[in-house]
Amino acid sequence: MSVNTIEQNQQRQALHDYDEIWLFGYGSLIYKVDFAFIQQSPGFISGWQRRFWQGSHDHRGTLEQPGRVVTLIPAAGMHCFGMAYQVTADVFEHLDHREKNGYLRHEVVITLTDKKQSREVLGLIYIADESNEAYLGPASEREIAEHIANSSGPSGENSEYLLSLAKSLRELGAVDDHVFNIERYLRK
Ligand code: SIN
Repeated sequence: MSVNTIEQNQQRQALHDYDEIWLFGYGSLIYKVDFAFIQQSPGFISGWQRRFWQGSHDHRGTLEQPGRVVTLIPAAGMHCFGMAYQVTADVFEHLDHREKNGYLRHEVVITLTDKKQSREVLGLIYIADESNEAYLGPASEREIAEHIANSSGPSGENSEYLLSLAKSLRELGAVDDHVFNIERYLRK
């Protein structure tokens, strides 16, 4: 059976106590914005690194042949760049469904960088850790590129996920060697 975190997420934070909440996106949430937001800002979180270590049963692969999508792993001293969105609480109903394949909501400090002076806000983030059933874990960047080249699911080709992410990171001026190396292998 495919992993489904919707119910777990609904019990994690009492979102309806808030008028608005910041959400940090570091994967498809950067480039596929299918939800309403009040404002957005580029930003980063500290102590985390993006990795194509999560399996995708429902978007970029299937239960039988999972694709590979990004999650975060703890990494002291590192910054992970992405996009932050200020949203209303009702948006999480849609997001919990979209991120249901192993991702749990966590609280995180986000540094917003769109103004001359950066500022910190508290927000939420979806992370799929190694305890979820769809987790695939490490592989070489070349193997990950091959895996991605051969995967697709209901949301489209796995390669489109990778290429869209790499493009949007470049547009943000962010450098992510892991993503860019896999992109290079894929294009070969
Ligand atoms: C995110 O984008 O923040 C979570 C992972 C994904 O949906 O690709």
